[in-house]
Amino acid sequence: MSNRRADPCVFVIFGASGDLTRSKLLPAIFNLAEDGHLPDEFAILGVARPPMDQAAYRTQLREQVRRAEGELLQPEKWARIEERLYYVSGEFNDAALFDRVKHMLAEIGERHHIPPNDLFYFAVPPDLFGTVADGLAKADLLREDEGWRRVIVEKPFGYDLESARALNAELRKALRESQIYRIDHYLGKETVQNIPPFRFANGIFEPIWNRRYVDHVQMTVAEDAGVGRRGAYYDKAGALRDIVQNHMFQVMTLVAMEPPISFGGEDVRDEKVRVLHAMPPLTRDEVARHVVRAQYSGYTKEPNVDPPSRTETFVAMRLFIDNWRWAGVPFYLRTGKRLPRRVTEVAVQFKRAPLMLFKDTPVHALSSNALVLRIQPDEGISLCFDAKVPGPFERLDTVTMNFNYAEYFKTEPTTGYETLLFDAMTGDQTLFHRMDMVEAGWQAVAPILDEWKKDASARVPTYEPGTWGPSEADLLIERDSRQWRD
Ligand code: BG6
Repeated sequence: MSNRRADPCVFVIFGASGDLTRSKLLPAIFNLAEDGHLPDEFAILGVARPPMDQAAYRTQLREQVRRAEGELLQPEKWARIEERLYYVSGEFNDAALFDRVKHMLAEIGERHHIPPNDLFYFAVPPDLFGTVADGLAKADLLREDEGWRRVIVEKPFGYDLESARALNAELRKALRESQIYRIDHYLGKETVQNIPPFRFANGIFEPIWNRRYVDHVQMTVAEDAGVGRRGAYYDKAGALRDIVQNHMFQVMTLVAMEPPISFGGEDVRDEKVRVLHAMPPLTRDEVARHVVRAQYSGYTKEPNVDPPSRTETFVAMRLFIDNWRWAGVPFYLRTGKRLPRRVTEVAVQFKRAPLMLFKDTPVHALSSNALVLRIQPDEGISLCFDAKVPGPFERLDTVTMNFNYAEYFKTEPTTGYETLLFDAMTGDQTLFHRMDMVEAGWQAVAPILDEWKKDASARVPTYEPGTWGPSEADLLIERDSRQWRD
């Protein structure tokens, strides 16, 4: 972003009374303003159901919005956002609401000298995406005759391939693909955005980033928290839909893709989608053998979770990317709630040295070199390699070379939404899901969802909170004579 500024625009949030607005969207807008990335010709319009006047909305947010790490915002700085913050209430299926929004937008535009550029954020349940898009279209708020109109939709984008296609068809009645920004907050994380520069701006990694040198890749998205207050949503989704199909696949495509022709236009997304297309569909046997699901003990007692629920809160799986670079290299993915700690990382495990020259260390004790991309919370990159233990013997130990983002760049914590909102305000869709990616993601998990549906009586293993999932997950990787990283 450096010193760039977003286009003059109004940021319109549908569902502006919810958690996302307080905890992510407004803190991200605050950070963008602080860093000088927003123009003076900028305003925010919140739209939600609760009847409230503008003053009450402003007061509520003043008291509730915190920075990424929870500390309060400095009042004089927040005041600059607050004077550009507006609110309209109403029902999303009521045409009168959209007339009020239109009227407000005209008024705001005049007051703050903003041309008709509107960024609409749908922070509403997916079954309302179509209704809101339709309301906007009927009020003539999606036309781009004089300015631009863009829509950001939150996940989940569908429940499976069919519902994702239906949802897309609904949106496409009112919008062109170039106006639709399907957000994935993982792609807003600096550490995720750093994957392509790390691979393609450094000459030393790319020559060994392939099946000749890489033994396997492990990805972990672990959370120590449970489902919390999101039981109603989560119980219908489960870990495969909630994390694997979108966040994990997106990170995996960045790790596995070919160098794009450029970082502009559609080149990056073209390469990413090719990775998903190269994943062979899992057969029935492969699902049984190479995909493990489990549920943490106590999950069914969480609020708004169905007591006989069989929803998985943990998934581990092995998959392949059948292309020239990765043929035969397993990618092991695991994610879960109520695991020992919150950590997201990608570890590229390189092949072992071919023979043991150091007699005090048996060959099986030689570690394989690992390059670990630490996505969060301890953002950084580590390289693990063997070194000689000091002393009059030939013994080796594994040591780690570490790069830590916060230490080196002195970064402040961010919400992860800053870059994504900025990109949407400047018309860059690179970090958003294109529809063919969404479809390819659903296609890849479809055989798993089908098998699980068929097998409705099979036992879903449980695991104790605070452990790394069920023993079946260990077996899955140990069968290949490998181990999950600790
Ligand atoms: C969301 C999922 O997309 O990502 C949540 O719906 C999950 O279930 C969250 O907790 C994890 O995000 P992060 O940024 O904390 O890793």
